[in-house]
Amino acid sequence: MSARSPGPDATRESEARAAGPRRLAIVTGASAGIGAVYAERLARDAYDLVLVARRRDRLEELAERLGRTHDRRVDVLAADLGSAEGVRAVEARIAAEPALELMVNNAGFGTTGLFAELDRDAEEEEVRLNVLALLRLTHAAVSVFKARGHGSVINVSSLAGFQPAPFNATYAATKAFVNSFTQAVSEELRGSGVRLQLLCPGFTRTEFQEVAGVSTERIPAFAWMTPEAVVEASLDALRKGELLVIPGGGNKLMGAVIRALPASLARRASAALLRRTLGGD
Ligand SMILES: NC(=O)c1ccc[n+]([C@@H]2O[C@H](COP(=O)([O-])OP(=O)(O)OC[C@H]3O[C@@H](n4cnc5c(N)ncnc54)[C@H](OP(=O)(O)O)[C@@H]3O)[C@@H](O)[C@H]2O)c1
Repeated sequence: MSARSPGPDATRESEARAAGPRRLAIVTGASAGIGAVYAERLARDAYDLVLVARRRDRLEELAERLGRTHDRRVDVLAADLGSAEGVRAVEARIAAEPALELMVNNAGFGTTGLFAELDRDAEEEEVRLNVLALLRLTHAAVSVFKARGHGSVINVSSLAGFQPAPFNATYAATKAFVNSFTQAVSEELRGSGVRLQLLCPGFTRTEFQEVAGVSTERIPAFAWMTPEAVVEASLDALRKGELLVIPGGGNKLMGAVIRALPASLARRASAALLRRTLGGD
C-alpha cells in the first residue's frame, strides 16, 4: 500500500467536502472555451454541476471526465438558449435544484461586419442568447437565491460592453445591456445575501473568434488571455465578493481608458481597432 500526500487540488476538494453539504453550479456554454474551464474549475472546487449548451456530445464527454476525476455529480442539459423552449428547460432546472449555489451565464456569441450587411436572423439570435436568455436565467436564479438568503450569479459580459463598437454593433450592445443590467440588479440585492458578478474579459483564446468569423492574425499576442486565467480571476473575485471583474492588467487599463474617453473618441478608436483587426486597412 502506498501512502502519498494529497496534492493541493485533492486537499482543496476534501476540505470543501468536509466543510458542509453538497453545492451545485449550473454553467451555460460549457461545451467550449470559458464555460468548459468554469466547469473544470468548479468540479475541482467540489461543486456538482449541470452543464448546458447545444452540443450534447461535447457536454457528455466533459461530464464523464469531470464526474470520474472529481467524484462529482455532473449532469448534461442539452438546450438551445436562443429558443424559448431551451431557456424554459434551464429555468425549470434552476427551480428543481435545492443545492444550487452558483449560476454562470456564460453562453454567448458575436457577429462581426457591417450591420446593414449582416444576416438579420443571426442578429436577432445574438440578442436572444446574449440578452434574453441571460435576463431570464438571472431572474430564475436570483428569485430562488433571494428566498434562501444565499447564492451567486456570474454574468459573462465583455470589454466590448463599455462602448459602442462599429463592426461589432449588436454584440457590443448586448454586452452593454449585460453591464448595466447586472450592476443594477446587484444593487437591488444589496444585503440579501445574493451576489452578482459582472465579468468583462478582453480577447480570450477560445472558439469565439472563429464563430464570429474574425481572423486573429492581426491581434497582438500580448492582448490575449487564456480562458484558464479569465476563470481564475472570476472565481478569485467571487470569493472576495467583487461585482465588476476585468481580468488581466492590460484589460483593466483598456477598460479604464475606454471609460475615460469622450464617447465620440471611444467610438472612433473602437472602429479603427476593429477595422485593423478585420484587415480592412
Ligand atoms: N473569447 C473572447 O475573446 C471573449 C471576450 C469577451 C467576452 N467573451 C464572452 O465569453 C463568453 C463565452 O465565450 P467563449 O469565448 O468561451 O466562446 P466559445 O468558445 O465560442 O464558447 C461559447 C459557448 O456558448 C455556447 N452557445 C453558443 N450558442 C448557444 C446557444 N444558442 N445555446 C446554448 N449555448 C450556446 C457554445 O456551445 P454550443 O455551440 O455547443 O451550443 C459554447 O459552449 C461569451 O458570452 C462571450 O461573449 C469572450
